[in-house]
Parts: sequence; structure tokens; C-alpha cells
Amino acid sequence: MANVTFSAPTLEKDITVYAVAGDNKTLLGVAKQHNIALPCQCQDGQCGSCLIKVTILEDKRPAGIHLTEKEKLTLSVNGKLTKEQLANAETNDMPPPYRLACQYIVRNEDILVEFSGEPGVE
Ligand code: FES
Repeated sequence: MANVTFSAPTLEKDITVYAVAGDNKTLLGVAKQHNIALPCQCQDGQCGSCLIKVTILEDKRPAGIHLTEKEKLTLSVNGKLTKEQLANAETNDMPPPYRLACQYIVRNEDILVEFSGEPGVE
């Protein structure tokens, strides 16, 4: 079980929902399930419209580190993933701050998910 808090200027207030880790649900899927209007277009890791900033709210080893190949490419092309951040994710298990909600699988950790409400803008 993970607490996922969505925060955006387009929301009246922050919304915290419980997500079941192991469901293999993406953050976009969790947002949709709770009627949270997170921008998305392709839902396939290619357009970058579901850009989010993820902050881990727990003091334990980060879990949501894995980036899909599409996520790596789209974030890199959009200047949201540096080579250093990618190397840190792949070799040091340090998750990068910016992610794609349609690619991020929810893990068993509490996170803050920030987005602007504008497609592709965190
Ligand atoms: Fe297009 Fe996520 S909706 S990259």
C-alpha cells in the first residue's frame, strides 16, 4: 500500500490516494481511477504530456527507480533527464526527479506527484 499525493495548481487542494503496490498500475492509471485530471495524450511514453515531478516521502531505499526505454528517450529529448541523472538511476538506484506518469509503475512507497496541469510542463 502506498500513499500517492497529487499536487497541482489545477486541483482545489492536494489529493492523497492509496495505491496498491503490486497492481502494476501506472501513476496515470491511479490518477484516472480517482478522476484526477493529469494531462496525457499518447499514454505510451512518447509525447511527454504526462510529465510529473516525483518526490519520495519516505526515508528508505527508493523503489520506483526503473525507467522504461521510452521514458528515458522522451525525458532526455525534452531536457528533463540529464546523462548524469540517468547514470545515477541505472547504477546508483537514485531516481530522477522528472518522470512520465504513463510509464511510472507505483511501488510500495509514499510519494508526492506534482504537475502543472499543462501538458508537458511539470
Ligand atoms: Fe504521452 Fe505519457 S501520455 S508520454
